[in-house]
Amino acid sequence: MIPIVDAASGWQLALVVPITSRFMRETVKKLWPEIDWIENADLREQVTQTWIKALERSPLEAEDLAQIPFTLLVQNCPITFMEHKRCVVHIARESAKAMQVFMGRALPIDIDAVIAGAILADVGKLLEYELGPDRKSRQSERGEALRHPFTGVALALECGVPDSVCHIIAAHAAEGDLVKRTTEALIVHHADFMAFLPFKNPKNIKVKY
Ligand SMILES: [Fe+2]
Repeated sequence: MIPIVDAASGWQLALVVPITSRFMRETVKKLWPEIDWIENADLREQVTQTWIKALERSPLEAEDLAQIPFTLLVQNCPITFMEHKRCVVHIARESAKAMQVFMGRALPIDIDAVIAGAILADVGKLLEYELGPDRKSRQSERGEALRHPFTGVALALECGVPDSVCHIIAAHAAEGDLVKRTTEALIVHHADFMAFLPFKNPKNIKVKY
């Protein structure tokens, strides 16, 4: 094999690329231990690749996600992007399991799709948000044109995520109110709003540090 050498640095790119992708994979694994809950190996890989692609294209760094508020719609929002997102995945999975136990004989639920959809629902925010000069997050010009349900679906389709999971990304927010949501999409939609709406009433918030 002829090594591919970068003319400027002299580095062998064939060696550099796997190290970079291993680093990105590790980064996503640290952000999202819940990816391991997905039983289907192909779906697990597609979800990982979607997050890698989003991080590669985002003006935000992975560390920013543990700092920035999860929404711009709540003033002084005390909960970070990752706290909110992981909470939604946990709520969605527990809800899906409870529904399966009590109503599973009439209402089949694809738990893998619920977990994958919840993990990917806000992946598009990595293309919707940017940091301003004050290091605070704000909506980018692209984000104004295409909110995260749209960019999230675009990223996920590129990575081979199945339509049933892209449907959850597309329909998780208010844009999805015109869509006939699947059971899995309804679960993620309500989990997302359960972890959002309480913050809309300032009386609910009592921050303990
Ligand atoms: Fe969202």
